[in-house]
Amino acid sequence: TGSTAVAPETRDTWSSPSGFILAAIGSAVGLGNIWRFPGVAFESGGGAFIVPYLCALLTAGIPILFLDYSIGHRYRAAAPLAFRRMSRPTEALGWFQIMLSFVIAVYYAAVIAWSMSYFVYSFNLSWGEDTLAFFTGEYLKVGDPGVSATIVPSVAIPVVLVWVAVLVVLALKVSDGVQKVTVVFIPLLFVAFAGLVIRAITLPGAMDGLNALFTPDWSALSNLNVWIAAYSQIFFSLSIAFGIMVTYASYQRRKTNMTTSGLVVAFANSSFEILAGIGVFATLGFMAHQQDVAVGDLEGLTGPILSFVTFPAVINQMPGGNIFGAVFFGALIMAGFTSIISILLGVAASVQEKFGLSRTASAITVSAVCAVISIALFSTTSGLIALDTVDQWANNVGIITSAIVMTIVVVWVVRKSGVLNRHLNAVSTFKIGRVWVVLIGVLAPIFLTVMLVDKLISLIG
Ligand code: PFF
Repeated sequence: TGSTAVAPETRDTWSSPSGFILAAIGSAVGLGNIWRFPGVAFESGGGAFIVPYLCALLTAGIPILFLDYSIGHRYRAAAPLAFRRMSRPTEALGWFQIMLSFVIAVYYAAVIAWSMSYFVYSFNLSWGEDTLAFFTGEYLKVGDPGVSATIVPSVAIPVVLVWVAVLVVLALKVSDGVQKVTVVFIPLLFVAFAGLVIRAITLPGAMDGLNALFTPDWSALSNLNVWIAAYSQIFFSLSIAFGIMVTYASYQRRKTNMTTSGLVVAFANSSFEILAGIGVFATLGFMAHQQDVAVGDLEGLTGPILSFVTFPAVINQMPGGNIFGAVFFGALIMAGFTSIISILLGVAASVQEKFGLSRTASAITVSAVCAVISIALFSTTSGLIALDTVDQWANNVGIITSAIVMTIVVVWVVRKSGVLNRHLNAVSTFKIGRVWVVLIGVLAPIFLTVMLVDKLISLIG
């Protein structure tokens, strides 16, 4: 089967523990933090969202992160092979996760590509006054449903660039490719973003934006969709239950303190997410102030429209807006790129191990397939609609299904393998015990199943 093609001894490693932590932060901090979190939080109860968010982080996010780390570290392979080594039949779960990652990667590339175009447009504010017409009309050339889709070159070209860049990084060893990219991009991203936030909160109206984001709507807590939004956000944002962190952890040195790294990554990710919420909503507050309306009455506060229609409109009105715009879209590119390389590393390493390919051969194959699909699905006149649909399914239904299966399988089927507490605790300072097993083995799956059923009913009904 070729499944042992990569012997554990010859596996490359991150060149230092901080290399792993930075790379894991790079994977976690992505479009999900900037492009997704602020809108989700705002729509899902504002300040009250912190309750389901923290619940999701503490009862499922961090425990599953530890689980991913320990499986990768113990079995030293990408998800499918690592699961297989743990227990043969679970290999399928690994492939399911890799398939989900793949789906996310092909649309994620499109959003990075849009950000690249918009980075360039920022300098001259080329999107003009009507930013909605520009985005959907001139840029994406969204067509009528029913009319057959055609490829839009202005999107397809940056998409190809993204995939070429991904390919180059993946063809290198992790310590030369992924690690070097994150060592440069992540600090730069944090500095750039800090600048944006400072600028945003000093704009007139900023405080109204923050009030709109943080004012709690406690009634949201009785809505299951709000809970599902919180869990999906945590899973997506921490890059867990996708097989990605399994893969990253498989490149760790034997002696690595995993629980401490996990806590650092989780803390950095959530901090960045909240910072992004502050930056985005302070900016929206300024916009509301300019238009003399309440923040809640603004349109386009979520999803792609927030970053590519609403933001350009605010940037138009801001003194020095072009610099703000370039930094904002530059931040999206850096955040997105350090995440997409993690997703693709997971996919490429799985293919490499399954078919006994060389690193370069699998990088080329996988990137080429992804590039073709990214273009065919998301760089056409119906790309925007496709993206919305895929985001709904992959991010809510897919991730949660994967998390349910993963927690049940790992805790109940393979408990005896000792990977859980014995392995993890042997190499980490922060020990986890029974509570952890009960959380991820019992409570998380029950809770997630209830949410999933509810979501399915609402999506289908
Ligand atoms: N965590 C990334 C974000 O917040 O944008 C997205 C992501 C990366 C999701 C890697 C899944 C993944 F495997």
